[in-house]
Amino acid sequence: MNDAMSGGVHRCWKSAFIERLAPAPDTRLLDVAGGTGDIALRFLDYVRAQNGGALGAAHVTVFDINPEMLRVGAQRFSKLGLENGGPHVAFVEGNAEELAGIEDNSMDAYTIAFGIRNCTHIDHVIRQAYRVLKPGGRFMVLEFGKVNNPLLSTLYDTYSFRVIPHLGQILANDRDSYQYLVESIRKFPTQQQFVDMMKHEGFQVVGQGYEDLTFGVATIWSGWKL
Ligand SMILES: C[S@@+](CC[C@H](N)C(=O)[O-])C[C@H]1O[C@@H](n2cnc3c(N)ncnc32)[C@H](O)[C@@H]1O
Repeated sequence: MNDAMSGGVHRCWKSAFIERLAPAPDTRLLDVAGGTGDIALRFLDYVRAQNGGALGAAHVTVFDINPEMLRVGAQRFSKLGLENGGPHVAFVEGNAEELAGIEDNSMDAYTIAFGIRNCTHIDHVIRQAYRVLKPGGRFMVLEFGKVNNPLLSTLYDTYSFRVIPHLGQILANDRDSYQYLVESIRKFPTQQQFVDMMKHEGFQVVGQGYEDLTFGVATIWSGWKL
């Protein structure tokens, strides 16, 4: 469904997300709402590509509330020779609003891609991210944004409300979830409102604190714990 809805563009957004993070060979990443590990795989691929094919001390914790997603992710990584609990990856079940089991000041970077919109208390999620990051650590969010160009916004709304629920019905036999998806995107804070929430929880931003992708259909937010 992600490929069908976005024409495959979500893959480019995820790759851009990791390129902006630009992890080092010793980065310890917490990827929250990590699902089956799309972001985690890109993180390890990026380190390998920058580090002569070696993973160095890079480590990613894939954290998600859904054990089935984690199970599929762990299998996927295992097929690539990356064992759950090994030197480079761990799959951990839990709620982004609590991050139980993740120690204070323990992570170099925190990512959450297409996950924070599903959480009930976004402010709790940001607060927990701040807690677990080391001083100097980076907080990065990839989520659907708001399209600000009026003409494109009208086209996007038409596509979202008229096409996506139909696609959901045809491809996944699930119209309601995709209706919910487009409605939840509209309810999510604007780019600037989300920056204000990050600042309220203590993060510092560089420049405006976000970068729109594809005219704001998706947005990357970035903050630092200093
Ligand atoms: C759309 S998927 C995104 C998965 C992955 N980040 C990606 O971009 O491919 C959303 C994920 O958020 C997880 N999720 C939803 N609410 C959560 C919460 N409160 N805490 C942790 N994970 C949550 C879901 O289980 C699901 O795996």
